[in-house]
Amino acid sequence: MADLALGEIRYFESIGSTNDYAATWARDGAPECSLVIADEQTAGRGRGARHWFTPPGSALAMSLILRPEVPEESGQIMRITGLGAMGVSRALRQSYRLPAEIKWPNDVLIGGRKVAGVLAEASWIGDQLSAVILGIGINVAPGSVPPDDWAGHHERPFPATSVESALGAPVDRLVLLQIVLAELLSWLPRLSEPNFIQAWREKLAFLGDWVQVITSEADGGEKPPLEGQIINLNGDGSLRVRLRTGELKSLRVGEIHLRPVDSSLK
Ligand code: ATP
Ligand code: BTN
Repeated sequence: MADLALGEIRYFESIGSTNDYAATWARDGAPECSLVIADEQTAGRGRGARHWFTPPGSALAMSLILRPEVPEESGQIMRITGLGAMGVSRALRQSYRLPAEIKWPNDVLIGGRKVAGVLAEASWIGDQLSAVILGIGINVAPGSVPPDDWAGHHERPFPATSVESALGAPVDRLVLLQIVLAELLSWLPRLSEPNFIQAWREKLAFLGDWVQVITSEADGGEKPPLEGQIINLNGDGSLRVRLRTGELKSLRVGEIHLRPVDSSLK
């Protein structure tokens, strides 16, 4: 880790959520690119109010504290979410030869199963954006995949896997961590370059496919799913889809879940 341009590193054997700790630490003045990492999370969070399963000894759970120069929240969150998903999928592709893809906006899939999730959150001091917390959870060993009867599953759980199951071999978590961090840090200064969007686009799952676009209302209620064909990733990181009616729509990061329309995994 010594050769990576990180700020400070804080490691915990067990913590509630690395994202929560990082948000507090960011408000207390953590240096740029500080890292919170934990072996176990007892209150790991996914998007919305959902839980993220992180039992000890089997996963990577980390949060990187970033201090974007442009204080514009939604575009930053979208690109930084893409950065997290790109960093993980490039690490898995280049160093482990795994066919990792990005399920927009925040998931990494191998063979249509979710192996990692990204949760980028803004941390505020009053009305000033003080940091963006880039949280990443990777299922490394099979024990980190939530069991079918896990109480934290939401009503539409997506099939999951682990890096070791996909590879058929053991994986050293520290080595994987270093490779992911090196990827993240190398792309970080390039988030507004077209190359970044291009590299992200190349890893998109379901490009050209029909998907169900499930949007949740802020109060937790859901609109009926729309069906759309994924056309492109826009330059700002939003997703261009064509609806059955022919209408073109750009989806921005929010409470949106994609599901393949024709999937044997469902
Ligand atoms: P989506 O429902 O499209 O995955 P999301 O990115 O918001 O949307 P969450 O609901 O926050 O995802 O994450 C939980 C989903 O991820 C569940 O579908 C679950 O099956 C899958 N998953 C894979 N690995 C884990 C894990 N370690 N902990 C929790 N959920 C996991
Ligand atoms: C998702 O798929 O919805 C995102 C899951 C993000 C999980 C990571 S684990 C490290 C960090 N701390 C958290 O509480 N969540 C993120």
